[in-house]
Amino acid sequence: MKNILCLTIDILLLVASGLFVACNPRKPSFHIGVSQCSDDEWRHKMNREMAREAAFIGDMELTFRSAEDRSDHQSADIDSFINEGVDLLIVAPNETEGVTAAVKRAREKGIPVVLVDRKLNTDDYDAYVGTDNYDIGYKAGTYAAATLKDGGSVVEIGGLTGSSPATERHKGFVDALKDAPNVKLLASADGEWRLATAEKVMDSLLQTVPAPDLVFAHNDRMAVGARRATSRHGVAPLFIGVDALPGKGHGVELVTNGTLEASLIYSTGGDRIIQVADSILKKLPVQRNSLLSTAIVDSTNARILAMQVAQIEDEEAKIEALNDRIDTFLLRYSHQKIMLIASIVILVLIAIVFGLILRAYWTNVRTNRQLAQQKHKLEAQRNQLILLSKQINGTDDGFTDKLRKVVNAHMAEPNFGVEELALEMGMGRSQLFRKVKNLCDCSPNELIRAARLKRAAELLTSTDKTVAEVSFATGFSSPSYFAKCYREYFGCNPKGFLKKDEKEKGKE
Ligand code: FRU
Repeated sequence: MKNILCLTIDILLLVASGLFVACNPRKPSFHIGVSQCSDDEWRHKMNREMAREAAFIGDMELTFRSAEDRSDHQSADIDSFINEGVDLLIVAPNETEGVTAAVKRAREKGIPVVLVDRKLNTDDYDAYVGTDNYDIGYKAGTYAAATLKDGGSVVEIGGLTGSSPATERHKGFVDALKDAPNVKLLASADGEWRLATAEKVMDSLLQTVPAPDLVFAHNDRMAVGARRATSRHGVAPLFIGVDALPGKGHGVELVTNGTLEASLIYSTGGDRIIQVADSILKKLPVQRNSLLSTAIVDSTNARILAMQVAQIEDEEAKIEALNDRIDTFLLRYSHQKIMLIASIVILVLIAIVFGLILRAYWTNVRTNRQLAQQKHKLEAQRNQLILLSKQINGTDDGFTDKLRKVVNAHMAEPNFGVEELALEMGMGRSQLFRKVKNLCDCSPNELIRAARLKRAAELLTSTDKTVAEVSFATGFSSPSYFAKCYREYFGCNPKGFLKKDEKEKGKE
């Protein structure tokens, strides 16, 4: 019974752990922290691409945080990723200086760091993925010079001072204009990558410099802000921006509808970033600097690009829908798995309970059979005893009375035998033998032993005497001999023989 109980518990534990595993899918091996400096559509696109690629590669989990253009916030984000024990960090640094120390701390803890889009003033990183911003600035300058081939003036609204793309785009732009002496750069101002700031700085620039023929804004958002200011001032320069994001209200559409003269594609490259991170985590060889490509989008290619992007987006949406369906199927599959395991548990339990019931039934049947046999034996003994006592109490009243009295009087004497009985009865041994045989159909010896045993049975049932005490009280020389005679006569052990005997031993 104990074994069955242990087995049941083992099975239940096994099944419970199976259920636990089925309900709790394995945690991914790698946790990657993504620290974005800003929160805008360009970043969202990059995050979406990263999430998709991570899902495609599998076995990795991404956590995104945005510092809202604040280096102190970003340092705190990086520190909390370090505390969470991420396996790798992806960082788009807000400024070249502001987050260097936090990145260093991560590397000191052995966390690999992949820089994306923006750079740091240090080589303390594992890989970089981004576009050549000098090239972007240079291409913008060349395009401006070509647009203003007869000469003209330009204003530059730069990204956040201190961030690497702003510095590099400015350098590239200025270098390109060196080859166009008839194009004059009137002013460069910090637009902090924001629409509102660009609008404000353009507004104030227009108070101090003449209206430009062209504005180069370091991103499309700022170009839109600057354009609001120029429109207010009643001037309509041409605008060149950067990013050329697809979708409603973004760069490509702004070029198509003429808001912008041109925009330079600033690749988000989320898929490439995750591939690099994956290689680092799997200790595979990695290209330290991965450069993403750029291209100019203007009226010559904007429509085609928009169409192609729309088609890609359409296909992406379908893939996304398929993914959702796969997720639903997987969820259903895992539910069915749980149901299956639960059904097996129930079946196993039913089988165990059934087994226990069957076992109890058979034990019961066996016990009943044994009890019936015992009852039968006891009845036979009782009948024999009745017969014996009838014989003893039979015809010759005087003789049997005396015989009973003598036997009872010497019951406790182990040495009281046929010799002594004959003497007490005043007859010879053979005369006694014949008389007893006649009356009881047994020898005098058997008669004495039957009388002793009968008395012993009475004492055992009616008194608290131990087997040993009873055996001595009825003239047996040892309890074991008494037990042997008792067993032979009654077909069972003297009542409680073993238990009392053990008690006796315990006392000793
Ligand atoms: C997005 C963004 C882009 C810009 C890039 C430079 O956060 O402001 O518009 O091209 O960052 O890092």
